[in-house]
Amino acid sequence: YSTATPYTTLPSVLLLGPPGAGKTALTTLFERGPLDLPLAKTHTSQVPSSIELSINSDDPSSASYKTNLDEAGATAKKFLLVDTPGHPKLRASSLARLNSAEPTIKSSLVSDGGAKSKIKAVVFMVDAAALADGDALPSTAEYLYDVLLTLQKRFHSRNGSRAPASMPVLVAANKLDLFTALPAALVKSNLEAELGRIRAARSKGLLDSGVGQDDLAAGEEGDWLGGDGSEKFSFAQMMEFDVDVDVIGGNVTGDGPGAEKWWKWIGERV
Ligand code: GTP
Ligand code: MG
Repeated sequence: YSTATPYTTLPSVLLLGPPGAGKTALTTLFERGPLDLPLAKTHTSQVPSSIELSINSDDPSSASYKTNLDEAGATAKKFLLVDTPGHPKLRASSLARLNSAEPTIKSSLVSDGGAKSKIKAVVFMVDAAALADGDALPSTAEYLYDVLLTLQKRFHSRNGSRAPASMPVLVAANKLDLFTALPAALVKSNLEAELGRIRAARSKGLLDSGVGQDDLAAGEEGDWLGGDGSEKFSFAQMMEFDVDVDVIGGNVTGDGPGAEKWWKWIGERV
């Protein structure tokens, strides 16, 4: 527990993803921490809401969200987890947050009067069971495309010679407790394939609308996601823009790998 850090400078982790992916369920799970209570029913989120969390900063790699840090006497690193609404009409403000060299978000905590918090990482949650039947893939990938493209464009909005800080993105493949869910490796390859299709469709749209091939090639600021000249899209192409994407599976409810790997991922980045 450290009092050296002023309250107002808590970093935050932005939780994005389509409706019903389990963002609020995950937020509730982390908030309960060591309390082994049943998860309350969630409702469709309409506004972003932040909660304050602490992780063992001595050793984030072995940290558990279930550890009672007060009892453990561990050094805690505090951060905000910002749960956002997944509804397409409510996404714009979440995306706008990321569209700056130093992304910040106003916390919704009453206790700090809505202080500005620096966004250190993005968790993009998807429903791996919904992705299995294919219907959810286009809309999920569409949102992820917009998130990654925003981060890519942000890379070019450098302040003088200073490049914006890198932004780690975790694609959390949720609901692996369901036997119909796709394993994380398939969630990754299906999303990459769909992002590639969206990329091709959008660049074709640009060509059809009279934007020349030269403009496209020159247009680093365009809508082309990832590296130039590549036939297939892969998350690795985002490294060029300091956007480091990991895909990790887990579940909030039921039996499965659980949420510890996501917690560790977050702990190593706040
Ligand atoms: P919006 O607020 O609309 O953006 O959705 P959300 O991402 O916050 O989804 P929410 O947390 O409300 O969860 C949607 C539904 O999925 C709820 O009924 C949850 O109980 C359920 N759910 C969340 N996580 C899991 C999981 O790991 N496994 C299963 N089987 N269901 C889950
Ligand atoms: Mg929600």
